[in-house]
Amino acid sequence: MQTLDELLQEGVNGRRVLVRADLNVPLDGKNITDDGRIRAVAPTVKALAEAGARVVVCSHLGRPKGEPDPAFSLAPVAQRLGEVLGREVAFATDTVGTDAETKAVAQSDGDVLLLENLRFNKGETSKDDTQRAEFAGQLAAFGDVYVDDAFGAVHRGHASVYDVAKLLPHYAGWLIAKEVEVLSKLTGKPEQPYVVILGGAKVSDKLAVIDNLLDKVDTLIVGGGMMFTFLAAKGFEVGSSLLEKDQIEVCKTYLERAEELGVELLLPVDTTTAAEFAADAEPLTVGVDAIPADRMGLDIGPESAKLFAERIAGAKTVFWNGPMGVFEFPDYAAGTKTVARALVDSEAFSVVGGGDSAAAVRTLGLPEDGFGHISTGGGASLEYLEGKTLPGLDALEN
Ligand code: 3PG
Ligand code: MG
Repeated sequence: MQTLDELLQEGVNGRRVLVRADLNVPLDGKNITDDGRIRAVAPTVKALAEAGARVVVCSHLGRPKGEPDPAFSLAPVAQRLGEVLGREVAFATDTVGTDAETKAVAQSDGDVLLLENLRFNKGETSKDDTQRAEFAGQLAAFGDVYVDDAFGAVHRGHASVYDVAKLLPHYAGWLIAKEVEVLSKLTGKPEQPYVVILGGAKVSDKLAVIDNLLDKVDTLIVGGGMMFTFLAAKGFEVGSSLLEKDQIEVCKTYLERAEELGVELLLPVDTTTAAEFAADAEPLTVGVDAIPADRMGLDIGPESAKLFAERIAGAKTVFWNGPMGVFEFPDYAAGTKTVARALVDSEAFSVVGGGDSAAAVRTLGLPEDGFGHISTGGGASLEYLEGKTLPGLDALEN
């Protein structure tokens, strides 16, 4: 895989560089609530601009349906990117149309232009190879070379991630290089004890990663909404908590496999419950063997948080993906906070994966430098750890 360092060595002065970034940031209306992904890709864009390239940045935002939708405009991101870079970022109100063309042609060396949301175009995510290739061709017209630094999107076989790399000399940006360097440590032989903590709503999203990691870890901790399917697999009544009934049997097989492997699969011993899914619902903490039929668990309880924190304290390597509860509701944030704090306090090499857990770290006001690495990839970091071939990385290698 050729990297940005090699491209900079070749020299980019006066050359047109198409950069794919993952600027898919959470928005509250037009307000960016977490700019982590913008800051993470900024060094690559800045280095190219400072070296005199004419930089054209493209990204998706959210999941619009292949046509323009103002709710998913990248305009607020252009402004924030400009602030982070400390230089002006022009914005094209279309992706490959006349505004984009006009603005690209007008670029001087060192200028940065952000194109409107890639997913305003059907070709970006199309399953039809020809349609995707056609859109990739339109994108490729903006660059003499292509730099991919959209780690969060490398698991997507989309036109801007996969097809375009076939049309232009291609390089991995610094963010992708860093993410791959860190995550490959976790798939190799990480220093032990190796503890993985999984949370988030759905166990079905995490099955492949559990499957691939179970024989590599010393302890697998399960919290978040997905814990209830595991608790049900152990025979507990989970009230009105999130439950994926069709996954109970699979969870049973993981519990059995963990036992055979001598791997500790650690589940919560208590949970903080609510009568309804609402921020102002009165919390009640109960043991996992005493969840009332009409209540739902929205967080792990304090005993569980303590237990999880102890395991983290004893670890040498930790990977964390997924919040322990509904941390957006202050009464149900304690579990996520305790786990995140334990990661900060531990001496272990700690990696946070997943848009939600990374956002949780920042929302809860924890110091980012307290972690070994905060991945910008949610699905991408999980699929990497699942051992899957990621189309975006594959394209950069070939
Ligand atoms: C993400 O947020 O996980 C990435 O930006 C990819 O987005 P997607 O899941 O909509 O493809
Ligand atoms: Mg996603």
